Amino acid sequence: MPRHTRARIDLDALRSNFRKARQLAPESASMAVVKADGYGHGLEPVARVLAGETDCLAVATVGEAQRLRDAGITTAIVLLEGVHEAADWPVVSALELQPVLHSYHQLAGAEALNGEVPVWIKCNTGMNRLGVAPQEVAAFRQRLETQPGLRVVGLLSHYACADDLSDPMTRRQQACFQRIRDDHPELQVSLANSAAHFHDPAPDCDWTRPGIMLYGGTPLIGTTGPALGLQPVMILESRIIAVRELAAGESVGYGATWVAEADCLMGIVEIGYGDGYPRHAPSGTPVAVAGHRCRLIGRVSMDMIAVDLSQCPEAETGTPVELWGHHVGVDEVAGMAGTISYELLTGVSPRVPRTYLGGG
Ligand SMILES: Cc1ncc(COP(=O)(O)O)c(C=O)c1O
Repeated sequence: MPRHTRARIDLDALRSNFRKARQLAPESASMAVVKADGYGHGLEPVARVLAGETDCLAVATVGEAQRLRDAGITTAIVLLEGVHEAADWPVVSALELQPVLHSYHQLAGAEALNGEVPVWIKCNTGMNRLGVAPQEVAAFRQRLETQPGLRVVGLLSHYACADDLSDPMTRRQQACFQRIRDDHPELQVSLANSAAHFHDPAPDCDWTRPGIMLYGGTPLIGTTGPALGLQPVMILESRIIAVRELAAGESVGYGATWVAEADCLMGIVEIGYGDGYPRHAPSGTPVAVAGHRCRLIGRVSMDMIAVDLSQCPEAETGTPVELWGHHVGVDEVAGMAGTISYELLTGVSPRVPRTYLGGG
């Protein structure tokens, strides 16, 4: 019997979310971020839809870019983490990628380039992860410009705290980036991630870089994607494979962490952390059974979870279950599990087939 656990990917919802991002930053071009397998939704199908809408795609690794080119996608591609070794340069050139550079070390191998590779400079405005220090950007740019084979096209930086509208770090980063921009007025600039689309004022940069919002997850703390007008793109679903009655006092699952206070009906669903459902989801996490919001009980196992069926007593073996999607938000599950929708979406394991609807 085939397993019914799958992730349905709504490509029309993806497109609608992209258009929403465009509306929120009407003055900017966009780099749609499709790294990490299109945030877990499947790189090629997601990129094919977005390629018809966006000016550019952004990935983290050369391997991801290679997959896009192999799929026949000709849209411009920015390589957010740039090159890591000399052998990357000929590939970057052949695939016509635009690497983002943050260090002199990345230049090894660039001297052998034949063509001209457009490059971005990653500026550290406060994230303190990758990036050239503000006072060193001019010298770094000069070094890149003396390197035959490279053409500096833009400056890029990344927010550390944009998910919190009240965090002063965002204004500090904007001010820092503005000072860098002022010294390089002829370069393009890119700063806004998804969260910045919901800031007031709207993003002021040539290029936005929306990621999570395209997939319907919230980029802001304390809210959900749908509350921001975004549509869920991934519907993670499964089904009930067993129903049993529990007597008051009986426990469920590993560690016997949940104990029935009264007699109740329980269903077993064929999904677990081996599929990417978060093991840290506690009892009480919502799970929709035949459209009725029920609750997870006991620990998440590798291949199974248990649900309390009091809200759906008619459930039986085969009844469909939604783990996240329309009835239960992925942000809601993430919040219960102490994480963010980014982690849940990118963590759905290869064991779960993705099926696609819409997008035509
Ligand atoms: C450099 C860079 N830009 C843009 C994004 C997109 O961010 P978000 O998914 O929050 O929109 C990411 C995601 O991690 C990133 O690393």
